[in-house]
Amino acid sequence: MIETLYIRLPESKEMIETKTTPTKTAPLVKGLPLSQVLFNPQRDIVGFLNQRWQEAGDVFSLSFGPRRMAVINDPKLAQEALIEKKHIFQRPKMVNGGSILSYLLDESVLTVDGEVWLTRRRMMQPIFHRQRIQGMFEQMAAGGRDMLARWQALPPGARVNLGEEMKLVTLDIINRTMFSSNVLPEVERIGDSVEIGLHYINNRTRSLVNLPESWPTPANRKFRAARRVLDEYLYKLIAERRRSDQHPGDLLDMLLAARDEESGAGMDDHQVRNEVATIYGAGHETTAVALSWAWYALNQHPDKLQRLQAEVDSVLQGRQPGLADMPNLPYALAVFEETLRLFPPVPMTVRLAEQDTTLGGYAIPAGSMLNINIYNIHRHPAYWPQAAQFQPERFLPENKAGLNRSAYLPFLSGPHLCIGNSFALLEGPLLLTMMAQRWEVKLLPGQTVERDLAVTMRPRGGLLARVTPRGEAHS
Ligand code: HEM
Repeated sequence: MIETLYIRLPESKEMIETKTTPTKTAPLVKGLPLSQVLFNPQRDIVGFLNQRWQEAGDVFSLSFGPRRMAVINDPKLAQEALIEKKHIFQRPKMVNGGSILSYLLDESVLTVDGEVWLTRRRMMQPIFHRQRIQGMFEQMAAGGRDMLARWQALPPGARVNLGEEMKLVTLDIINRTMFSSNVLPEVERIGDSVEIGLHYINNRTRSLVNLPESWPTPANRKFRAARRVLDEYLYKLIAERRRSDQHPGDLLDMLLAARDEESGAGMDDHQVRNEVATIYGAGHETTAVALSWAWYALNQHPDKLQRLQAEVDSVLQGRQPGLADMPNLPYALAVFEETLRLFPPVPMTVRLAEQDTTLGGYAIPAGSMLNINIYNIHRHPAYWPQAAQFQPERFLPENKAGLNRSAYLPFLSGPHLCIGNSFALLEGPLLLTMMAQRWEVKLLPGQTVERDLAVTMRPRGGLLARVTPRGEAHS
């Protein structure tokens, strides 16, 4: 069944404030059939919400059948929801007691809220402390070197799918740093399974009617087969470590050793599997898509690429980058941060109002969904001068003081602030530096670059690029 999505314009009677309550009603803008969003070939929900924002303003609401969703595009309201009213706006319980990602991850630090979430978050936090992350630098660099060695072995001027390359290197790095293992022999099977899982989740988010996952529809069968591949790998990893007398002190060791403070019980294999899968998923895909978008932006702005190359050349003088070099490469970090602003890998997140409340004076009835639109907030002209332009300079140390940090939410804010943000902010600029130092990455002309949202926002189908050692690019 396809329903029409009605969004009422601000001038509508719905906007009238009542005398008895001081709250306003978020405008519902009338007119666009939901089918246009769900079934147009691009299915570009990010673009759709961006368009509606420009028409309807910073707060508007949509109805998806019986569901009501308030879309907020103003950082002040995002902070109000994520920090001041964090107990009211919780992760929605849609599948197995968790968010929609629970199809793949079941109950994990990324899918649930409340006590269970807090226990898991506390358990994992130590490995994400800045010092521990810095200790992983060499493993990150080794992953980067291996990728470049693979490029070196390609025939001259070879084409690569940049999206796939970035996924491979980030998956390899997560594996080395968090699980001390080598996923490369199985990487395609695992990467494909994650991809199928993310698309399945996304399709279910968009559908008004979903048949139960247990029904043998083609989509359900494909998804279950993909999840089996993933599970096979994850349970094997866990079983081998439980049997092993080698304990490198990585995240897997920490999860296996964790004990509940009250009961003293450890996590069973299924619980450990959920957290391991979460870190595999959240820890590679996001950084991979950010790196793809960074190369997309650098290709469009050759002057910015030149500045990056000049910084890398003058700081490193041909050496491999070390941890101590990173603070001296502010432009590489700025390119990565500006990419996260214009192309946030997580362009929106959803919360559920557990009780009647308000946001910025707008009434939010209990049971409403809240779409915190990171993509639009990052392009809000009141917070970002020349918001649509790619200007890494705004993130340089001398300009950072002038930034409105509350309008920068690539890692969200509040208690669910991304646990891996320091990891990503070291890994992303490092890989950019290593690539920019020795390689020209030129996107093939003539390809159409479209957004594809499957939990993360990536260029649809990856980006096709030609990789050539620097200096040979024009020979
Ligand atoms: C550029 C890279 C990354 C981006 C843009 C990103 C973005 C985000 C965002 C927006 C959230 C909040 C989700 C929500 O509550 O709706 C989040 C949570 C999370 N991220 Fe990341 N992330 C990145 C890298 C990483 C890495 C490298 C790891 C792990 C190694 C990681 C692990 C997690 C986990 C476990 C959570 C759940 C935190 C919680 O709810 O307590 N992320 N991330």
